[in-house]
Amino acid sequence: MDPAARSTDVVVDLEVNGRREVHTVPARTLLVHFLRENLGLTGTHVGCDTTQCGACTVELDGVAVKSCTVLAAQAAGSSVRTIEDVSLGTENGLDPVQQAFWDEHGLQCGFCTPGMVLAVRQLLRDNPKPTDDEVRHGIDGNLCRCTGYQNIVAAALKAASTQEPATTKATSTAKAD
Ligand code: FES
Ligand code: FES
Repeated sequence: MDPAARSTDVVVDLEVNGRREVHTVPARTLLVHFLRENLGLTGTHVGCDTTQCGACTVELDGVAVKSCTVLAAQAAGSSVRTIEDVSLGTENGLDPVQQAFWDEHGLQCGFCTPGMVLAVRQLLRDNPKPTDDEVRHGIDGNLCRCTGYQNIVAAALKAASTQEPATTKATSTAKAD
């Protein structure tokens, strides 16, 4: 432990974007603040701090979570993926969901976009061929103050339509009605 550490500090040891990170932080540090302030990963945004906006969404052990609802200490031993990592290794520098947001003009100020992209990625893992209604339901934990959601839904549907068959589940739960 850091010699300057206080008795209320904890050592957080986890993997972020494929890299091991070990930091001593106050026990009450939220994961979102750990990512932004300790690691400088400011693509993860803070819109509310009260679990309402979804701007802070990251992937924790492969599942989208609001990182303002998780203490950094609770993520110890886990693997976190942030928006900075999702496009790495892609052919054109954009994850397919990011590309669909680009194509469908799914953003204006962009504040909600990192969280939206990660929420849509989760939606498409759970339901590779969602209907319009299912997309709206799937992103209802993420708020956007600019777009009116129409183009975000269009982007999610476009991403679904362009997904590689190998990455989709064999049986879709989507209904055609
Ligand atoms: S900052 Fe986490 S839900 Fe708004
Ligand atoms: S694009 Fe501005 S909040 Fe969504």
